[in-house]
Amino acid sequence: MSEHAVVTPEAASASPRRKRRWLRALGWTALGLVSLAALLYAFGGMWVRTPEMRAAYDAMVARGEQPKLPARIVVPIPGCVCHSDDPVLQAQHARRRIRECSSCH
Ligand code: HEC
Repeated sequence: MSEHAVVTPEAASASPRRKRRWLRALGWTALGLVSLAALLYAFGGMWVRTPEMRAAYDAMVARGEQPKLPARIVVPIPGCVCHSDDPVLQAQHARRRIRECSSCH
């Protein structure tokens, strides 16, 4: 009996199993990324650039120059920041979700 007779069948059965585990991990990762993307598309949105911008809009609301915007669930997407200099535009856009961008732009 050679050593090969013992080692070879074991190696032959371990390899596909390891490949399956790999594929399953890849599948779950892909599924996770796709659901995260779908969630951000549905509920994700932009940040207001600075707290000062937010305060500027709040001050306009207090003076009665702008309507108070209704609260909405918008998940801030990391890095997705509105670059406008207009606090009104920023305040409005921070309430919008990625799904809605294409309806105006
Ligand atoms: C209700 C309509 C509407 C929706 C929805 C909307 N926008 Fe806008 N957006 C506007 C208007 C109006 C302006 C100002 C006019 C302009 O500059 O074209 C504007 C301006 C912009 C600007 C230019 C800002 C600047 O500094 O001039 C960007 C960038 C932008 N929008 C991105 C987005 C993104 C990203 C979304 C999705 C989260 C979005 N918009 C959703 C109406 C909308």
